[in-house]
Amino acid sequence: MHTALCDLLGIEHPIVGFSPSERVVAAISRAGGFGVLGCVRFNDADELDAVLSWLDSETDGRPYGVDVVMPTHGPAEGKHVDLDKLIPDGHRDFVQRTLLKLGVPPLPDGESTGDGVLGWLHSVARSHVEVALSHPVRLIANALGPPPPDVIDAAHERGLLVAALAGRATHARSHVASGVDIVVAQGYEAGGHTGEAPRRRVEPEVAARGGEGDPAPAPGGIGSGRQIAAALALGATGVWMGSCWLGTEEYQAQPALRQALLDATSADTVRSRVYSGKPARLLRNRWTEAWSEPEAPAPLPMPLQNLLVSEAHSRLMRAGDPTVVPMPVGQIVGRMNEVRPVAQVMSTLVTEATDTLKRLSAL
Ligand SMILES: Cc1cc2nc3c(=O)[nH]c(=O)nc-3n(C[C@H](O)[C@H](O)[C@H](O)COP(=O)(O)O)c2cc1C
Repeated sequence: MHTALCDLLGIEHPIVGFSPSERVVAAISRAGGFGVLGCVRFNDADELDAVLSWLDSETDGRPYGVDVVMPTHGPAEGKHVDLDKLIPDGHRDFVQRTLLKLGVPPLPDGESTGDGVLGWLHSVARSHVEVALSHPVRLIANALGPPPPDVIDAAHERGLLVAALAGRATHARSHVASGVDIVVAQGYEAGGHTGEAPRRRVEPEVAARGGEGDPAPAPGGIGSGRQIAAALALGATGVWMGSCWLGTEEYQAQPALRQALLDATSADTVRSRVYSGKPARLLRNRWTEAWSEPEAPAPLPMPLQNLLVSEAHSRLMRAGDPTVVPMPVGQIVGRMNEVRPVAQVMSTLVTEATDTLKRLSAL
């Protein structure tokens, strides 16, 4: 199972694995795939620098990439406090009332509420790019369309590839025109920010628009080797998987999150603006449902919604209650019923995809 994507990224299997966990990313790259580290959780560029140094030594010389969240539009950024003032009191009251109603305790004494998830801010995402450029990363991906032209140029000057996620197949051509090397057109089924079209529809369209030979890894709803074979049949040159790795040993999920992931069926996700202000697929639970109640306010635009709910997210995550954990995850969560090491997941995916392709070619 060797495709153009393998040559482009210098990998053995055409499987890109996104994860916010450096342990997962290192294990994916070591297993012959391509690990991509989500940087949005890093408020501090020095912390990201230390994690990338760790990855440099733990990937055994195999390539890996980073993913930043760089919105092209949003409120003008001054100091963090300026953005804070744009959050209506009614929204703050609703969050506090909901946490009380759900029985979510406050953070322990002395525990910082943090400054919000600053990685969603353009200026912080830029600091992530700067740090990444000082490490031997092979690819910079942007979650929200093409990064600004100077970032694309800086990456290309250093020989890095640039990837951009797209919510619609129609964005693929403009991404390519902006200099993006790899368009990742996110299917509706995927965890995190998603478009409105299912992967089976987006994939052939992107493959056609990208032009012959352009690598288009398919994200969204992939959790088995048979689905990888199907994605290749539909025109993708590989797959881009995110949710699947949440169920691995290396992810080290807290017990409540692990339980929630193991319990969830494919019907237990929801596409909602509650997490970040943009539509994203999440675990559907008592927290997300509270935002659908008649008295709930509409979620704020990005990045205000992130700032509004960031302390709530810390509290919900620490509450130890599987029915409230705030978590992006795709519909393949329904297949997550055991915790396995990344290497084992990868080997099962590759064996199953290869067997499926052999079976089909014998038809
Ligand atoms: C927990 C989680 C966090 C994610 N965060 C980001 C992110 O910060 N940036 C990004 O480009 N994609 C993010 N994604 C989307 C993944 O990159 C990927 O496109 C998606 O998971 C693929 O679909 P799947 O979840 O069905 O495998 C996230 C996905 C998950 C599950």
